[in-house]
Amino acid sequence: MIETIHPVSALRGTVRLPGDKSISHRYGMLASIAEGTSVISNYSSGADCHSTLGCMQAMGARIEKNGTEITIHGVGREGLQAPAAMLDAGNSGSTIRMLSGILAAQPFVSKIGGDESLSKRPMARIMKPLAEMGAAIDAQDGKFPPLTIHGATLRPIDYTLPVASAQVKSCVLFAGIYADGKTIVREPIVTRDHSEIALREFGAEVESRRGEISIAGRAALKAKNLTVPGDLSSAAFFLVAALLRPGSRIAIQGVGLNPTRSSLMDFLAAGGASLRVLNIAEGSGEVIGDILIEHSRWRGGILEKSMTAALIDEIPVLAVLGAASEEGLIVRDAAELRVKETDRIATVAENLKRMGIEVAVREDGFDVPGKQKFRAAALDSFGDHRIAMAFSVAALAADGPCEMHDPGAASVSFPEFYNMLRSLSA
Ligand code: S3P
Repeated sequence: MIETIHPVSALRGTVRLPGDKSISHRYGMLASIAEGTSVISNYSSGADCHSTLGCMQAMGARIEKNGTEITIHGVGREGLQAPAAMLDAGNSGSTIRMLSGILAAQPFVSKIGGDESLSKRPMARIMKPLAEMGAAIDAQDGKFPPLTIHGATLRPIDYTLPVASAQVKSCVLFAGIYADGKTIVREPIVTRDHSEIALREFGAEVESRRGEISIAGRAALKAKNLTVPGDLSSAAFFLVAALLRPGSRIAIQGVGLNPTRSSLMDFLAAGGASLRVLNIAEGSGEVIGDILIEHSRWRGGILEKSMTAALIDEIPVLAVLGAASEEGLIVRDAAELRVKETDRIATVAENLKRMGIEVAVREDGFDVPGKQKFRAAALDSFGDHRIAMAFSVAALAADGPCEMHDPGAASVSFPEFYNMLRSLSA
């Protein structure tokens, strides 16, 4: 399929976004192994989070879907059953990496895989700690999905993350639910802490202090009714759209503003973005609030080290903003982008070039000079949701209509994206 995107002068209106993808995965998995029935409201409508639910159903969790309200009848910590077929994680790295922590502790063998993109994503990062805990895992070519996981009685470990990855941290913590003792994860760079928060909500004993996170083993999780905040990473597309188009004014309600995610707001504000956060509240350990953004000139910025890790999912759309900024965007320490749903350094650079935008690519990032103009072009999502949405936003500022090849990729995290974009552009 191809979506034609017409340039727009301004985006105006108020939106409420689908539930956060990261948080939805965690609630879906933990509610399934909790005791009792949990009702999760505003669960992500994205295909990835439904892949997680499909896997949990395949192991015996009873799940009822009523729009974005999901009722999960948990089977308890020891209640999962061997799946009859290979578990399908679809396009979702979060599903395969985090769920592997749970599978590693089961008294059965399971196989988990997904689509072509997922089959190229590195798994050694979770295989190593899970092997240390006692599980045996076979992978394609020793490191790619599908994974065959021979569950075992797990030992607790003290593990220092070699890459900044919340998925790997979560995988080890979820395995730690089953271990016989206290599992510790140390992270040199702080990553999103939704797992720590969610585990506590479901009753696990989790401590977290200056990069050292521990979980007490043999945790008995209890069902909990929870509401997922709107996805800040989805909001990023509209925030950038407002900064690109003069006269724009967008209110985004009920967005998750967890401090390990919200450095996006600081980065935009530091470059001169006119944005305000209103009605801040706390709910089930997560921070939530409304964002009001108005078009303003953005100076540009440098992303490196911990800032790069904190904004890793937002880099494609920030690259677009960088091209239109005063001074451009410099991205460093972002080699992780090469192993996302696509090699995002390559797919960002390719689409920028198609639009006539100058970009200098490096192994671990890129430089996009500012004050550039977007030329109408045939664009490609390359099957990657964030590339589809980032370059649909770029197309709003082009000098003519653009075509987006495979726009449907957006539905992995944000199926409502094109409809919301149209409603704000009207
Ligand atoms: C996620 C962590 C990040 C992020 C992904 C979601 C999570 O991945 O890119 O979209 O929910 O924990 P890594 O852990 O690979 O950095």
